[in-house]
Amino acid sequence: MAGSISSMLLLLLNMAGALLAPRAPDSLPAADDEGVDFFFFPFLVLYKSGRVERFMGTDTVPASVDPATGVASKDVAIDAAAGLAVRLYLPNSTAERLPLVVFYHGGAFVTESAFSPTYQRYLNALVSRAGVLAVSVDYHLSPERPLPVAYDDAWAVLQWALASARSGEADAEPWLSRRADLTRLFLVGDSAGGNIVHNVAMRAGREGLDGGATIQGVALLDPYFWGKRPVPSETRDPAERRWLDRTWSFVCAGRYGVDDPVINPVAMASDEWRRLGCARVLVTVAGLDVLAARGRAYVAALGASGWGGDVRLYETPGESHVYFLLKPDGEKAAKEMDAVVAFINGNRPLESSESEVSAIS
Ligand SMILES: *[C@@H]1O[C@H](CO)[C@@H](O)[C@H](O)[C@H]1NC(C)=O
Repeated sequence: MAGSISSMLLLLLNMAGALLAPRAPDSLPAADDEGVDFFFFPFLVLYKSGRVERFMGTDTVPASVDPATGVASKDVAIDAAAGLAVRLYLPNSTAERLPLVVFYHGGAFVTESAFSPTYQRYLNALVSRAGVLAVSVDYHLSPERPLPVAYDDAWAVLQWALASARSGEADAEPWLSRRADLTRLFLVGDSAGGNIVHNVAMRAGREGLDGGATIQGVALLDPYFWGKRPVPSETRDPAERRWLDRTWSFVCAGRYGVDDPVINPVAMASDEWRRLGCARVLVTVAGLDVLAARGRAYVAALGASGWGGDVRLYETPGESHVYFLLKPDGEKAAKEMDAVVAFINGNRPLESSESEVSAIS
């Protein structure tokens, strides 16, 4: 029975392309069809038995030296008992110290990993182009480990990276202890990872980071945010809104309402926004993405909050959610990468005919 669901899904996937955006299928299997508890199209099926069948994002590739860029990667278990690991990336650079990027992958909190070919390719490109040391975080996924586990993993790995980078001990992780420059610390993430970046930066602002480190900048690439009331230019289609409400409830196992600030920062008061613990923010949105309106609203709300940092919106018209992962060799993806690289290196993002760049506040 599971097999028939798989083949139906694979057919739909082939027809729909590799969609990563949360989106309602035309017809859901009824909850009691074939023992299905929840069908999170296009990512997975949760069966009533508790078994989870994922349809995408489960492939992995080993750490390596990338022949095209010379970027080296290696996997480090941070907490073997807890199953928390990272993939580290080092560029082929003679610079003594490198900016440190902590990267959180996307996949709606339910799929993908730090070891997938999609993210191996993205991180090799980002690390070589920006000349940064990167820590790609393999946080736990829903529904087996619903939120806030991913948020707690994200925070634990950031603290581990900071401690490793400061440590002079012989057994310290050598790439971090010898090469990371903590005065140039950035958090980057796409989709669900963009949501994680925001929540880690809020926690850093509220609690501070160990050793007094500060986050220079955060980049939220097509971030996953949502909320009950539509923001300007957001879909008002009731079925689509219900689906996004339902899928959020699924990934957090009902723990956070759809207007909780972890998923709906736009609903935060200005004094909450002002705690965002970094000096610079880049938000990217793709014009055809149902989530784009929330990304724009995030930039507008942060800009109007009196937070006092620099927030920028980079918009790519005519493209879908995380198109830069699905079509990494395209011209628009290259321009978006340029914007992320320029953001990390402290330059203004490049202007282009494809992309609108606006500086706010
Ligand atoms: C690293 O860069 C040096 C100098 O450009 C080059 O000679 C070497 O082949 C590169 N190594 C890798 C693994 O790409």
